Amino acid sequence: MVEEPEEKKTIPATVKAPDVDIDRARRVIFEAIPGPQTDFLASTEQECLYGGAAGGGKSYAMVADPVRYFNSPKANMLLVRRSTEELRELVSVSKELYPKAIPGIKFLERDKTWVAPSGATLWMSYLDRDDDVTRYQGQAFSWIGFDELTQWPTPYAWNYMRTRLRASKDSGLNLYQRATSNPGGPGHAWVKKAFVDPATPGESFWAVDPETGETLVWPSNSNFAKENDLVGKPMLKRKFIPATLFDNPYLAEDGLYEANLLSMPEHLRRQLLDGDWDIQEGAAFPEFNRKIHVIEPYDIPDNWMKFRAADYGYSSHTGILWFAVDPYDEKLVVYRELYVSKVLAEDLAEMVLEAEYGEKIRYGVLDSSLWHKRGDTGPSIAERMIAKGCRWRPADRSAGSRVSGKNEIHRRLQVDPDTGQPRVVFFNNCKNTIEQLPVIPLDKRNSEDVDTNSEDHLYDTLRYGVMSRPRSNLFDRDPNSYKNNFTPSDSQFGY
Ligand SMILES: Nc1ncnc2c1ncn2[C@@H]1O[C@H](COP(=O)(O)OP(=O)(O)OP(=O)(O)O)[C@@H](O)[C@H]1O
Ligand SMILES: [Mg+2]
Repeated sequence: MVEEPEEKKTIPATVKAPDVDIDRARRVIFEAIPGPQTDFLASTEQECLYGGAAGGGKSYAMVADPVRYFNSPKANMLLVRRSTEELRELVSVSKELYPKAIPGIKFLERDKTWVAPSGATLWMSYLDRDDDVTRYQGQAFSWIGFDELTQWPTPYAWNYMRTRLRASKDSGLNLYQRATSNPGGPGHAWVKKAFVDPATPGESFWAVDPETGETLVWPSNSNFAKENDLVGKPMLKRKFIPATLFDNPYLAEDGLYEANLLSMPEHLRRQLLDGDWDIQEGAAFPEFNRKIHVIEPYDIPDNWMKFRAADYGYSSHTGILWFAVDPYDEKLVVYRELYVSKVLAEDLAEMVLEAEYGEKIRYGVLDSSLWHKRGDTGPSIAERMIAKGCRWRPADRSAGSRVSGKNEIHRRLQVDPDTGQPRVVFFNNCKNTIEQLPVIPLDKRNSEDVDTNSEDHLYDTLRYGVMSRPRSNLFDRDPNSYKNNFTPSDSQFGY
């Protein structure tokens, strides 16, 4: 895509940036920077993340990638950002690049869609809440790009959009889902797990489910998989390409930009300048330590007091944790978790009762908003579960309870100087809790609380649990206090 031939000038070599003739490149409509940007644009995997330092040229590459398909009449493409404001940046880069690269291409302002003379289209859109995916229902795209992927708190949108990836056989198009991102942001943890952790950067690997860690395989109900003998086989390849500022000679030359990044707080500097994915931006519980807080499961003695806590969400997630109180040091042992979505109250009640069959569960605490009636008639979610025999009482949601709950978790995570033990431990089968707790970010505007945009259902569950004033029941064996067990503590909710 060279506008006019130009004799090659050389610029003095720098230690950091690749040797690119910037003067020449400026006369070129688009030329990938050697190194990661070129690798990203050349990758053949269905899913690829170009992630790392700020200013590496990620968004620019994202906008440039669709250009090569604008001559394919059947190319139907979608580029998303989380919000409309953020989308503007991409639209303006595309307006600079596309008309030069594809003469005759038109931008329909109202639909934010590029239409090439061949008929190929690129829709530039935003995708804020999980429900927004319905906007793309029934559509098929051959290329889908997510700019700043960690802005999405959960993998829901990314996974949903994979189902929109389709092209007719005669189109000659391969299917691609592309993402760029800085480390940090509410989705840092799942993006890291899906793309960064599974393999050496730059190497292709079979995609895993970021929530379970299991390889994604072709489902048995897929006709395509059945016809092609693919059922149970790995489904798609992924790749992660790391980016650093020094990849980008357009910015690396600008010492001011680097100096600005250097002056940032340590964790931001490491994320934005070095592209370091191991740094958690303002993690709320930096003291969480697998070596201290996660233990091998063991059989919990029958006489330990047990209870459960829950945060219910139908379209997002429901998190339930079961706790036991070690009577010797009053330590909480989180021994089971249930983390599900799209489960109705009645079914959830059955799942809970089945999981704890044979155990004596003293009480359950549940998000108090679940006693609110959603429609004009009919029982609330809590009532529907209680009707099934799965009893709950409302968790504390009073003013200040979020902050005091967070403080109580800090106190529980602390190692008690008297016992040398933390005041809460987790069985290693509570996988989602163990993954989410150490990465849950602080609220940037209120460091007393966590960022409620992140995946916080199990955190809320844990908070309700630790705030329910759990005490061991050693004294229950005292015949004098035994009968007290039968006194309902809350007549309204049956306890
Ligand atoms: N191949 C290229 N040709 C010309 N200019 C480029 C190229 N790649 C990047 N640039 C320039 O570098 C600037 C920074 O790139 P870009 O905005 O894509 O970085 P980024 O990695 O998305 O940064 P951030 O992490 O801040 O979002 C762009 O505005 C663009 O001017
Ligand atoms: Mg960018």
